[in-house]
Amino acid sequence: MAVSMENHPQAVFDIERIRAQFPVLAREVHGKPLVYLDSAATAQRPQSVIDAVSDFYGRYNANVHRGVHQLSVEASEAFEQARTTVREHLNAASDREIVFTRGTTEAINLVAQSYLRPKLEPGDEILITHMEHHSNIVPWQLLCEQTGAVLKVAPINRRGELLVDELEQLIGERTKLIGIVHVSNALGTVNPVAEVCRIARERGVATLVDGAQATPHVDVDVQALGCDFYCLSAHKMYGPTGIGCLYGREVLLEAMPPWQGGGEMITRVSFEETTYNDLPHKFEAGTPNIAGAIGMGEAFRFLQRTGIEAIARHEAGLLAHATETMQSIDGLTIVGTAEHKGPVVSFTLEGAHPNDIGTIVDHFGVAIRTGHHCAMPVMQFFEVPATARISFGVYNTTEEIDVFLEALGKARTMLA
Ligand code: ALA
Repeated sequence: MAVSMENHPQAVFDIERIRAQFPVLAREVHGKPLVYLDSAATAQRPQSVIDAVSDFYGRYNANVHRGVHQLSVEASEAFEQARTTVREHLNAASDREIVFTRGTTEAINLVAQSYLRPKLEPGDEILITHMEHHSNIVPWQLLCEQTGAVLKVAPINRRGELLVDELEQLIGERTKLIGIVHVSNALGTVNPVAEVCRIARERGVATLVDGAQATPHVDVDVQALGCDFYCLSAHKMYGPTGIGCLYGREVLLEAMPPWQGGGEMITRVSFEETTYNDLPHKFEAGTPNIAGAIGMGEAFRFLQRTGIEAIARHEAGLLAHATETMQSIDGLTIVGTAEHKGPVVSFTLEGAHPNDIGTIVDHFGVAIRTGHHCAMPVMQFFEVPATARISFGVYNTTEEIDVFLEALGKARTMLA
């Protein structure tokens, strides 16, 4: 099936060709074709990413920046080429602004400990929103315990939208950083990140954006967003697990002390004194996840080849289809109905525990996520212990959503 994109004559979104690139989609689960609706937890990988990782191990596995031999040269080039690909995709000003990390969580912890900790006095404030993932809550709580700083939380409304005016009211003399999620993993809300960063800049407050859920769906331009830090994880955007990156404005990264010590992040070590490497290596202690970085570069190339606008349009269609159908199911409540949403539908069903729903639909080959989605404060706000969540990727189809809805209907009958 090929869907022509209006106004984008060059962009033909051929879903069958896209699906054919993801080998896992060919498998069966419990004797049924796999319907994978859990891409917000982790997306599947296209063959090009699998090949890039396997090619590294099979052809030129070596440590980076350390050897004079040919394999090490090839590995270093591919590793640094991946950094350039990430930089180009995010429109960062320089490769020095792209630090490879284990993922979003490590990137946020790095900023908390290296950028903010040295600046904080007791009573200083860190402002986040009520829809943050635990990874954009707990590092700040740890920092508050370490420094006597205070965590403030900007409220959301019943649709799961950030109240930007109230966030602005919470910015005070002592606010040192605003941490905000770009796209909520639990609700799907797309936040007005550029607006929040503009407000923060006008008030002299630093900004960190958790982009883990945004990069597979949104065209991210860190300069247009105007953020100081942007964090992402490759595994949510068709890349490997255990790799991601921190984008930071060079002037800030330059002034920050190293976070972790070890090999690679130094220029010279003696027992008396150690000097540190240049950006970004100053923040990359130890042998990095080389295969992961190369795989992440390939995942960005996959997004570029497919076209982020075409992906967003396809996913918006899936979201509209699922939302429209699910809204009319008796006893089903969609949790998170923001006007601007990414491809996520969290929901509860009267009389059915989300875990039971997840277990039953799995028997029909449908993979969904159930639980608190690492966002317990969101669950508390909506007064639910958990939700069931379907989330879409580039490879999903409306037919798959219909398979899920049929399985959900069966789950409902069984649980009644
Ligand atoms: N944070 C991931 C999710 O949303 C694991 O499922």
